[in-house]
Amino acid sequence: MISDHNQTALMDDVMFKFQPAQEDFAEVVRTRRTVHEFLDTPVDIATILQAIDLARWAPNHKLTEPWTFHILGPQSVRQLIDLNESLIAVEKGEEAARKKMARWSQIPGWMIVTCRKSSDPIRNEENYAAVCCALQNLMLFLWSRKVGTKWATSHFLQHPQVAKTLDIESATERIVGMIWYGYVASRSESRRRPVPEITVFHP
Ligand SMILES: Cc1cc2nc3c(=O)[nH]c(=O)nc-3n(C[C@H](O)[C@H](O)[C@H](O)COP(=O)(O)O)c2cc1C
Repeated sequence: MISDHNQTALMDDVMFKFQPAQEDFAEVVRTRRTVHEFLDTPVDIATILQAIDLARWAPNHKLTEPWTFHILGPQSVRQLIDLNESLIAVEKGEEAARKKMARWSQIPGWMIVTCRKSSDPIRNEENYAAVCCALQNLMLFLWSRKVGTKWATSHFLQHPQVAKTLDIESATERIVGMIWYGYVASRSESRRRPVPEITVFHP
């Protein structure tokens, strides 16, 4: 590694020359935020399919294309909401369950994304990484169309009844996340550490 002094000098020099990218793509990446409140307005299915079309161009080692995108219709959504409500009722009581049910019932768009498992631990990890890349593609495309998303990984997703409801074969498929989507009702803020704090130059 280069010395702290040289590293600071190099970083100062680079940061002086560094201009954050201004092009549209960078703007989409920088402004995308996890969305917690959605409008009722449904998102056209063509937009969702376009997002999946781009998601699948994510890098994936050995071209395993390990992803499946489950777009949920009202019946499946209802089943998941009811399941979650009954689980929360047992765990935290009726009031908490009712609140969660009311909140989830407001969410206009539901997708669950799965990853093919592999008996090879390295391949398994590569597949998971590839699905995460695909999800970022998907979320960025939707954001470019003013559709917000929230990637949720609640432990609820690991309940066997979730996979059963959606005919997901748990032996071979891992649920990577639930993607809620819709037009944005309120925008949240986020922050990231500056580039010099997260970058190390090696000689
Ligand atoms: C793998 C993964 C799992 C996440 N799970 C949740 C979740 O369960 N609930 C939630 O509110 N946000 C979840 N998020 C969203 C993060 O909290 C969010 O990305 C983070 O706060 C940064 O905000 P930003 O997306 O607006 O930049 C998840 C994000 C990732 C990548």
